[in-house]
Amino acid sequence: MTNPPDEPWRRFKGLRPLSTFVHLDTAAAGRSSRQTLTAVAGYAERESVTGAYVAAAQAGPVLAAGRSALGELLGVEAGGIAFVESATAALGVLLRAWPLMAGSTVAVLPSEWGPALDAFADRGLRIATLAVDGSGLIDLDALRQFVAMTPPAFVHLNLVASHRPLVQPVAAAAGICHEAGVPVWVDAAQGLGHVDAACDADAIYATSRKWLCGPRGVGVIAVASSWWRRLRPRASEMDRDLLAPGESPVLLLESHEAHIAGRIGLCAAVAEHVALGPAQVRSRLAAVGRLTREALADVPGWEVVEAPEGSAGGCAITALRPAAGQKVAAVRALLLAEHQIVTTAAVTARAPREMKEPYLRISPHVDVTPEDLAMLRRALPSS
Ligand SMILES: Cc1ncc(COP(=O)(O)O)c(C=O)c1O
Repeated sequence: MTNPPDEPWRRFKGLRPLSTFVHLDTAAAGRSSRQTLTAVAGYAERESVTGAYVAAAQAGPVLAAGRSALGELLGVEAGGIAFVESATAALGVLLRAWPLMAGSTVAVLPSEWGPALDAFADRGLRIATLAVDGSGLIDLDALRQFVAMTPPAFVHLNLVASHRPLVQPVAAAAGICHEAGVPVWVDAAQGLGHVDAACDADAIYATSRKWLCGPRGVGVIAVASSWWRRLRPRASEMDRDLLAPGESPVLLLESHEAHIAGRIGLCAAVAEHVALGPAQVRSRLAAVGRLTREALADVPGWEVVEAPEGSAGGCAITALRPAAGQKVAAVRALLLAEHQIVTTAAVTARAPREMKEPYLRISPHVDVTPEDLAMLRRALPSS
């Protein structure tokens, strides 16, 4: 596998704790670097030394730098960033705070993340399905017509799908929706740190632990400035009192009681990502995806699910379809127990409107080697 220069990617591995596992599971959770782990532990100790609230106040500049960097990556001003606990929590917060009428419609794609469909139904929203081409990419002409004729309360798009390599052209879709005055929310749980996520969304949210390799238990919401004053955060009077004059009301979306050490760890992970170069990481991950699919192309008993190479660019997620009746959950367990290879058994509930059967998901980060992929190839049972 060549993608010169190789050095930053070797360094990426070297910055992490030594491991005998072959990690091909970034779409579930990336491996944090020592620096990130130290930031989390160091901050936790600081809470014990100074008192937790004093430590939080002292960490203000670190958190502010993290908000700015995340704002850059997500295409919003730093004041539009709120830290929450996960991408799921972010969606819940947005659904509560956005000025939505009862019975409003949200428009989604067939590849929509299953738990998001449940969250929309719980909020009492009607769900409309947007048209796609044969590969599952959004049909932009059909979208233009749809939002002009039957504008929904908002369009919700997954920047990168969870279960297969599918990157939606969300910036183009946002442009079309905005012409019709329809807001766009983007689920960037699989997109942040992986593909370009600055897409002019009205709201975009993600999680720390996947492609950015931050800690678990932290998520992020980014809201475009035109919406800041229209949100209705469910914050207590006490929390509202804590908001300094001039501070963005988006901060009221944050949970007041939180694992601040995790947020500090995310800020460290984002700083590392920025130091590596987000554009370089994106192009390396696109190459990693292509090379993974090539390496597994003709592995007996498995079919590589095709990756549409549209305008949206590359993706480091690979999905393998069991072609000989293998049980994906059992294969995932076997790879882990006998070969120390970490993968995901992607069940159909991830994308219930599209998936017909479970896939084995392979999602290496930038440091994957040809040897790792060859080892996976040898370990995959053909029947
Ligand atoms: C596309 C997508 N959306 C949302 C989520 C939920 O993220 P979290 O586990 O941080 O709530 C995931 C998690 O895998 C995902 O893949």
